[in-house]
Amino acid sequence: MFKKEVYITRRDRLKRELKSGIALFPGNEEAAFNYPANQYHFRQDSHFLYFFGLDHPGFAGVIDVDNDKEYIFGNDFDIEDIIWMGVQPKVADLAAEVGITNTAPMNNLATFIADAMKAGRQIHFLPPYRGETMIHLSQLLNTSIDEVKNGASVELIKGVVKLKEVKDEYEIAEIEKAVDIAYLMHTTAMKMAMPGIVEQEIAGTIEGISLALGGPVSFPVILSMDGQTLHNHYHGNTLVEGRMMVTDAGSETQLHYSSDITRTVPVGGKFNTRQAEIYQIVLDTNLKAIEAIKPGVPYRDIHFLAARVIVDGLKKAGLMKGDTEAAVEAGAHTLFMPHGLGHMMGMDVHDMEGLGEDYVGYDETVTRSDQFGTAYLRLAKALKPGFVLTVEPGYFIPALIDKFRNEGKFMDFINYDKVETYKDFGGIRIEDDVLVTDTGNRVLGKPIPKTIEEVEKTMAEPREWIRMDGFI
Ligand code: GLY
Ligand code: MN
Ligand code: MN
Repeated sequence: MFKKEVYITRRDRLKRELKSGIALFPGNEEAAFNYPANQYHFRQDSHFLYFFGLDHPGFAGVIDVDNDKEYIFGNDFDIEDIIWMGVQPKVADLAAEVGITNTAPMNNLATFIADAMKAGRQIHFLPPYRGETMIHLSQLLNTSIDEVKNGASVELIKGVVKLKEVKDEYEIAEIEKAVDIAYLMHTTAMKMAMPGIVEQEIAGTIEGISLALGGPVSFPVILSMDGQTLHNHYHGNTLVEGRMMVTDAGSETQLHYSSDITRTVPVGGKFNTRQAEIYQIVLDTNLKAIEAIKPGVPYRDIHFLAARVIVDGLKKAGLMKGDTEAAVEAGAHTLFMPHGLGHMMGMDVHDMEGLGEDYVGYDETVTRSDQFGTAYLRLAKALKPGFVLTVEPGYFIPALIDKFRNEGKFMDFINYDKVETYKDFGGIRIEDDVLVTDTGNRVLGKPIPKTIEEVEKTMAEPREWIRMDGFI
């Protein structure tokens, strides 16, 4: 965990944002995999981690804004636990590590909350995303699950977003570490992408690299020759020459900061002419979008800049036609880039998405579009120094080609006859994790090969033995 002053400062800042009431942060519990004693790898709640740092199940954190007091509720291990898991630190000792002196058994939390409610004090909580937490909150607040789902505190959500969206130097260092692990995952995937290899062999290998060097993957690995499906979790294809393999994968560090990187490579290691032409358009889009990142620029403007670069490139390749601005205004680019350019990153790979995308990616100056494609944009508001976000243009969805053509859409902008010949092409996506600096931006982590020359050179190199030195 970080030093205790980091957590003390974060809680103090949150108190100033909230002004009154009680902020309740239930930590996560162990979650059963296929029977109660066989559990998933424990993952603490990211907001609890941010303010209370303790990476153990069975805790709740409370910030009493009115009385300027903070509490950890949790139970010390009993002898039964110690038999199975060894001697563990006391709750009071753990709490002291993050600057908290008030601790109490978990059973006391119900009385604490009931007394506060009787006194008419507001209990702020964030939107819960796990069933166990919803049940726990409904018991503590003596209300229905539906009311818990809809009753999250907007003030607390806004306060948490305001603090967490700007990453401090310790967090940026952790995200860089996560990208450095992703470097090894992606360069390994490139070297393995040879005809005859089954996708699962590569997906499993790179997931193992994440586990060996940090923690679990930051989201289930997306690795497929059918990269046109944005979130494809099927890994059963045998790679064949002439196709491209999309790998969208990242790692979580031991402190739970994530990376989210996508690379697309030609199976066998050499781009053919058609692949190189389209790949270069996506790469140019990725580079031009990154170049435009600086404080004050709304990310929606960069999304549309990316759309224009794609349209210009596809016009040159003969797949689109007409006026670029008019094509983007009409939404014709969404045939090729039906998703948003990127999202915030942090401990959650889509940072804070559980709090509501409109609170994280939008504000009073930018509201969500209802146009197909643009509506999926997760981050649209003006950028600030300290934001960490992804840049991930990409495309080719055969089902959309048929749909748009049948609906007679964008006939002035799309050369459907030519586009039809790309239905077997697959997809290309190139994604990087980028920090907004005071003057511009910095792509985080060790640069991961992405030009055609770099990718081909890496694919020709032998796989190396990956060691954990420097990571753990
Ligand atoms: N890995 C999911 C995404 O790129 O947003
Ligand atoms: Mn991704
Ligand atoms: Mn992403």
